[in-house]
Amino acid sequence: MLDQLTMLERELSAKASAVQSEAELESLRADFLARKGGRLSQIMSGVGKLPKEERAEFGRRANETKERIEAEFARAQDRIHNAALQTELARRYDVTFPGIKPRFGSIHILRRTLDDVAAFFRRRGFAIVMGPEVETEYFNFEAMNIPADHPARDAMDTFYLPGGTLLRTHTSPMQVRTLREYPPPVAIVVPGKTFRRDSLDARHAFNFHQFEGLQVDRGITFGHLKGLVGDLCRSLFGKTTRTRFRPSYFQFTEPSAEVDLSCPVCDASGCRTCGGVGWLEMGGSGMVHPHVLRAGGYDPEIYTGWAFGLGIERIAMVRHGIDDIRVFTENDPAVLEQFS
Ligand code: DAH
Repeated sequence: MLDQLTMLERELSAKASAVQSEAELESLRADFLARKGGRLSQIMSGVGKLPKEERAEFGRRANETKERIEAEFARAQDRIHNAALQTELARRYDVTFPGIKPRFGSIHILRRTLDDVAAFFRRRGFAIVMGPEVETEYFNFEAMNIPADHPARDAMDTFYLPGGTLLRTHTSPMQVRTLREYPPPVAIVVPGKTFRRDSLDARHAFNFHQFEGLQVDRGITFGHLKGLVGDLCRSLFGKTTRTRFRPSYFQFTEPSAEVDLSCPVCDASGCRTCGGVGWLEMGGSGMVHPHVLRAGGYDPEIYTGWAFGLGIERIAMVRHGIDDIRVFTENDPAVLEQFS
């Protein structure tokens, strides 16, 4: 049996020095050293057949053999590991080979425009509030002084939903919702998605974004509106831009005005961007109609307010010289990257 140990050891040292890979080494290890059925275990299980006085000597020799076998494995492992390292170190890399350029995302232009607008109003103490995109006919129209049979409803091609609801056609419904919820003074900006049944072309989208402004308190005048919108436009389009309020008509304001911006491209002298007129229409505004104040639970004899609704796509298009509204939803990374 002692011979068996010696032979096992010799066989192992021959095999271990020939092993080329970690996997081969592992299977060799299992073959020789596995507790159950390993070659060494098998020899050692014969200890019971030895005469008593030889057992201690055999045990000692078996342990020594085991230690030497393990050392042999450790050497083989080192050898394999070093060989792999040498191969890796010998590999040549072509450092001039072009790498793979990661594609970075960027914040969408609409989001950045909106962030700029929100920052402007936050600095002035306005709260930013959000409203539901699925709105009731009441808040979208009735509360805004547009009764059921009024022709003004046709102008806003509406996506109607079941049960007296619709996709809001403007952010204006948040005027009455907010007035109902908060006591005076109210100063809010409402950014959000709006929907109209328009067919898609360079200037129209069925889903676009607006932000509504509203300030209601005692003694609020049209002058507050003019000053603020002028400031907003200078902050968004540059110090030299001017604003113009053109008399207009909206159901929910009286008086009403369209907000025009001096064309930042040609400085109001007339160019392709402004269609030669020198001014760009930015949205609607006016003094909140008494019916609207009343619908919000405010007494129009005591409180007055202004409101406006501006298009976010419109602002982003003017700021970045974009002439097609579809750019915002097609989301071609190559195009969007230009504005990041
Ligand atoms: N809601 C109007 C629209 O979408 C825009 C508007 C006009 C909003 C005048 C206002 C306003 O708050 O005073 O066409």
